[in-house]
Amino acid sequence: MPLAAEAPDVFAFVEKSCVACHNAKVKSGDVDLKALETAKTFEENRETWEKLVEKLKTGKMPPPGSPQPPAAVTTAVTGWLQSEFARQDRMVKPDAGHVSAAARLRLKPRPASLGDLKARLKVTRSAKYPG
Ligand code: HEC
Repeated sequence: MPLAAEAPDVFAFVEKSCVACHNAKVKSGDVDLKALETAKTFEENRETWEKLVEKLKTGKMPPPGSPQPPAAVTTAVTGWLQSEFARQDRMVKPDAGHVSAAARLRLKPRPASLGDLKARLKVTRSAKYPG
């Protein structure tokens, strides 16, 4: 299924700014961003991508003291990811056009709204990044 148009290089961005502290070995905050290296993860690991967007929008990551990506690139990446989430939400129908009653029953609400996620982030956030 087609992704939202004109992706900035999200993976290169993450690789450059985040992966040093978020990989299978150095799994800061229990987040492995190295694992998100294919387009299908935008749907399959959406929860993690949403966390990433939240961190970028609030300027929490990369942590203060680490090299910061250019603001324009950060904005492009968050903007693109949000449009990708919106695209996914519009796609919540099994076949284009007609949705049968049975299919509609199978449609489940998304597991977590951004509000839920924020609440969860608040609860799970561990000690502040040192320094
Ligand atoms: C210098 C190391 C470092 C870099 C670089 C870094 N992080 Fe983190 N990150 C941490 C640490 C340490 C934590 C755990 C403590 C915390 O939540 O502040 C963390 C936690 C997180 C969490 C989980 C927080 C939660 O509340 O569950 C997310 C999401 C995250 N980082 C995203 C990013 C993104 C996106 C980038 C790149 C733009 C990035 N990080 C770059 C060190 C880093």
